[in-house]
Amino acid sequence: MITVSDLRKVYRQGNNEVVALAGVSLEVPTGKIHGIVGHSGAGKSTLVRCLTLLDQPTSGTVAVNGKELTNVSASELRDARRRIGMVFQHANLFDSRTTEENVGYPLELTGTPKNEIKTKVAQLLELVGLDKFAKAYPSQLSGGQRQRVGIARALATDPDVLLCDEPTSALDPKTTDEILELVKELRGRLNITVLIITHEMHVVKQACDSVSLLEGGKIVEHGDIASVISNAKGRLAQTLMPLPGDAPRSAGSGTILDLLYTGDQATEPVISSLSRQFNIDVNVLAGSVEQLSDQQYAHLRIQLPAGINEQEIINHLQSNGIAVTVKGTK
Ligand SMILES: Nc1ncnc2c1ncn2[C@@H]1O[C@H](COP(=O)(O)OP(=O)(O)O)[C@@H](O)[C@H]1O
Ligand SMILES: [Mg+2]
Repeated sequence: MITVSDLRKVYRQGNNEVVALAGVSLEVPTGKIHGIVGHSGAGKSTLVRCLTLLDQPTSGTVAVNGKELTNVSASELRDARRRIGMVFQHANLFDSRTTEENVGYPLELTGTPKNEIKTKVAQLLELVGLDKFAKAYPSQLSGGQRQRVGIARALATDPDVLLCDEPTSALDPKTTDEILELVKELRGRLNITVLIITHEMHVVKQACDSVSLLEGGKIVEHGDIASVISNAKGRLAQTLMPLPGDAPRSAGSGTILDLLYTGDQATEPVISSLSRQFNIDVNVLAGSVEQLSDQQYAHLRIQLPAGINEQEIINHLQSNGIAVTVKGTK
């Protein structure tokens, strides 16, 4: 588990102060994958630097499995850093070292005996599917393979948390999905907590159990995927489940509703059952159904016929767990 409490980072530039993190609090339970998304300048890199203690937060705390990493002595800091493994956008491997030498590097730094390093590295390479590439140099590997080396290296010190900073931004779509599958598999096998910093909603859709939206150094929306999506007015819901840009214009004059729903209902014929039950014609103006993480979500824009008791219909939809936003009447 990683716990971030009221983390602030203020940079001083001459007489100016830049508030890069304005009180970020976050809790990711053990074994969960949490995404942090935000535009350029939101504070993502600063957050990464403060979490890995490359940068000292101005105030606030970071704890892994209840043990605080901030405000510790220099020697404790070295141990603390090992609790968080880092994966970078470009794997940042040593070109002059083979796969096994790259993966073993953090263990050399901690003075681990050579034979222990050998055993551990072999296990790690098998874990990430690179056992056949132990003697290869980075230049002989594909981008996806290099990222696997980076992941194995990050796991070398048995961290409790894997912090991935734009881990797939330099990869093609197919390799992106393979790396995300690997991260999900590792989380299951090692019961590790994963934080993924990304600007790609695709990554959140594919891999994350929960997500935070960082803006101006603050978390402005957060929650598990189902809850951020059911907050129909939220920006994460709009970005994760966008309606097609050019929704058809309404034909009639009834009330327009946006419906967001999840799980079993997403595959149930919500609209046809509504039509049957209330004996009305429902006009579907736009819609999308998506598989996010391991669940189905649907986002529909519908128009009810004019002159009916629409509140009764809205109540019915809401009582079935569907988030309803009234978009107005045409
Ligand atoms: N070393 C620094 N000195 C001064 N300002 C900084 C420094 N690092 C980041 N900032 C400022 O903090 C804010 C957040 O930056 P950053 O964490 O790099 O955002 P992101 O990674 O989301 O693009 C920006 O306004 C940036 O200009
Ligand atoms: Mg950045």
